[in-house]
Amino acid sequence: MANSPSGDSVADRVLRVLETFTPTRTMQTAAEIGRRAGLPSSTAHRLVGELVEVGLLERDQDRRVRVGMRLWELATRSSRALRLRQAALPAMERVQAQVREHTQLAILEQDEALFLERLSSPDATSNITRIAGRLPLHASSSGLVLLAHAEPELQERVLGSRLARLASGTITEPAVLRRKLAEVRRLGHAVAPGSIEDVATGVAVPVRDRSGTVVAALSVVIERHARLDRPLSALHAAAREIRRTLSQ
Ligand code: PHB
Repeated sequence: MANSPSGDSVADRVLRVLETFTPTRTMQTAAEIGRRAGLPSSTAHRLVGELVEVGLLERDQDRRVRVGMRLWELATRSSRALRLRQAALPAMERVQAQVREHTQLAILEQDEALFLERLSSPDATSNITRIAGRLPLHASSSGLVLLAHAEPELQERVLGSRLARLASGTITEPAVLRRKLAEVRRLGHAVAPGSIEDVATGVAVPVRDRSGTVVAALSVVIERHARLDRPLSALHAAAREIRRTLSQ
């Protein structure tokens, strides 16, 4: 694609504009987008206008901009996330009914856990995951499952990076993380008490496809000192069920 004087392509700039939207920042002015995307104001206004025109962004009466339904439609209809989510939903609903806490499905995406789906009960424990939100691999139960089954290069990259402390139970020592990943592979699940929030424990299992490759992590978030037996048996049964569905 054509490059700007600064050398970045149109695709780069469109991506930078879209990346300024987050699960908690869903409405912005064109000026805010430009500032956050590091684009000159005139470029930001023009690009935002063009994206609104083709429906990838939408503008409200106050001229604030949000991600357009057209973008959701195009992104959702053919992505691998859709098939996985559809295969997982009935099993997730069963987990949800049994455990009555948050149940979520995550995949590995660019060195983080990306959450595709989350089911919640009104009276469930606190939970910071959001659909289409991300959590660090070392600091969440889903992340630990995904990391434990990831390519060795990715594991080494994470083990060699700064392991930020996000709560009292976050693993910040590479040697401890290495042992934890081995434990996750041996036990077939991850338990992460106080890893990202002091008050909660994440419990996650791998979701495998027909070939046995881990394609996702299924997790529940429970109170920090809650019993693990029911969540674990519900999650293991659900992962088997999803694997059967993915194998059909
Ligand atoms: C976890 O998976 O470990 C986890 C996720 C979200 C929370 C708490 C724990 O809010």
